[in-house]
Amino acid sequence: MLPSGTLRIHELTSEERAVYATLKPECLPEHVAIIMDGNGRWAGRRSLKRFIGHQQGARSVQLVMETASRIGLPWLTLYAFSIENDLRRPKAEINFLMRLLKSFLESNVQRMMDNNVRIRYIGRTHELPAEVQEKMRWAEETTARNTGTTLTLALKYGGRSELVDAFRSLAAEMKLKHISPERITEEDIHRHLYTAHMPDPDLLIRTSGEMRLSNYLLWQIAYTEIFVTERLWPDFRGIHLLEAIADFQRRERRYGGLSEGSGEVDEEAERIKIAAG
Ligand code: FPP
Repeated sequence: MLPSGTLRIHELTSEERAVYATLKPECLPEHVAIIMDGNGRWAGRRSLKRFIGHQQGARSVQLVMETASRIGLPWLTLYAFSIENDLRRPKAEINFLMRLLKSFLESNVQRMMDNNVRIRYIGRTHELPAEVQEKMRWAEETTARNTGTTLTLALKYGGRSELVDAFRSLAAEMKLKHISPERITEEDIHRHLYTAHMPDPDLLIRTSGEMRLSNYLLWQIAYTEIFVTERLWPDFRGIHLLEAIADFQRRERRYGGLSEGSGEVDEEAERIKIAAG
């Protein structure tokens, strides 16, 4: 289902339009999640400081967000700052990332308004510096009535800590309502995740070639298609999002079922084989 905004295909670059023309618009993913990796390597390969890589990475966020909104992608969720980043990176880099986030919001809210993009966040965002939280709130409130793409930034995010938070709040609800553990369903867990308001990602993109999930959306990606590209995040553009979607559309999603043409199951023959050992 498309968000209630207008498609703006004419605003794509001619190269993007050429890739878009190969897509089936009725089979676009609803939700694309991205692990943005490789800022440091991008800078290192140019003998630049890591900070410059992050700065270029912020530019990629802006451009990818715009392409997503032009093709009417309802949900785009970006891994912008993990709990592990916070624990394991030098203080100076964390401070820089926080300043970069603030300035990204300041300079992009108008662009979000122009592109009908709404911004939201997931993660333990209450643990971020107060002035960053203030800017985040401002951006969220300013864009709250936009009806196009929802850009979600995962900040101070970890998949396991999201599950811990979900179980804590589910346990509190159960205690309050005197619900016994046997009655817990997947739907109950879903309701307590940070992402309760959105569909699970159809497509997860990871840049810079690592074959890891890095503690991202662990519950939500149970049936998500994964696309890994060698391209480093600061070099990732809207056209690469479209190429990933084209690859996604060539896949067949089975959700644990059978594919078409995988053959009839001959129950009698199977029984005989099993009986014969
Ligand atoms: C990985 O690069 C990227 C991050 C630490 C998170 C993503 C951050 C940005 C794209 C910066 C700006 C984002 C916003 C929303 C303003 P890395 O440093 O791990 O790269 P490396 O693995 O090559 O060292």
